[in-house]
Amino acid sequence: MPGRLEGKVAIITGAAQGQGAHEGRAFVAEGAKVMLTDVQDSVMQLADELGDAAIAMTHDVSDEDRWNEVVAKTLETFGKIDVLVNNAGIFAPGSITETSTESYVTHFKVNQLGTFLGMRSVVEAMKANGGGSIINTCSGAGQRGYPDMISYLSTKWAVSGMTKGTARELAPFKIRVNSIHPGLINTPMIGGAAGDTELMQELAATVPLARLGTTDDVIEPVIYLASDLSSYVTGAELTMDGGTGL
Ligand SMILES: NC(=O)c1ccc[n+]([C@@H]2O[C@H](COP(=O)([O-])OP(=O)(O)OC[C@H]3O[C@@H](n4cnc5c(N)ncnc54)[C@H](O)[C@@H]3O)[C@@H](O)[C@H]2O)c1
Repeated sequence: MPGRLEGKVAIITGAAQGQGAHEGRAFVAEGAKVMLTDVQDSVMQLADELGDAAIAMTHDVSDEDRWNEVVAKTLETFGKIDVLVNNAGIFAPGSITETSTESYVTHFKVNQLGTFLGMRSVVEAMKANGGGSIINTCSGAGQRGYPDMISYLSTKWAVSGMTKGTARELAPFKIRVNSIHPGLINTPMIGGAAGDTELMQELAATVPLARLGTTDDVIEPVIYLASDLSSYVTGAELTMDGGTGL
């Protein structure tokens, strides 16, 4: 049976670990070709592991010139770009009075500028391809107000807004732009890799479905948005948060 992403070519950022690495593996399993990027060199090993369907580049998503190289290499290797998953992100807690300007600007560069540059970089290739799907990784922190995460919250609300505006702007070119809004997902970002079970239990107790999410909880909505199954869906927010936002 053909995979749900057979014939698609995707760029996935922040693919060395966590949700991005899971997306890389799942996209290849569903028949896609992928360009995986990350600031961490280990993204190259993941591409090796996935064989001919995957290539990788080290890439800081706030680096405009490097985005041009990522797009050029993807086109040279696979001939087109159907999907962009803007997944790379950073999170550091901090209230408005505790947060340094440096921390605020760093979050802006990775989470917000990186998403903008990613979207802008693929538009021409997607237009030439007759359409495409851009998936911006947002958060519950881009839907509601949370205390003590002003830098992160600001960038994720910006991603929410950019997604909707860009969805309208690119709809005439059949380029769909949607956002996903994970809740607490057990990845290195929230300390999941460190195996701090006490902290994990405390976090899980705040979730109506009484558990943390996993990368498996995020992957199906991402595959759906990347595939033609969602061809009439644009500007949407897909939330997978175990009911945290209720
Ligand atoms: N884990 C959660 O609870 C949660 C919840 C909501 C949203 N998110 C979002 O999901 C996305 C993936 O996070 P994750 O949970 O897999 O975390 P993670 O920390 O495991 O992975 C993030 C990846 O982004 C990469 N990265 C960091 N800065 C980068 C840069 N400048 N350029 C390129 N890559 C960079 C990291 O090296 C890492 O591989 C992020 O956008 C995050 O904000 C996570």
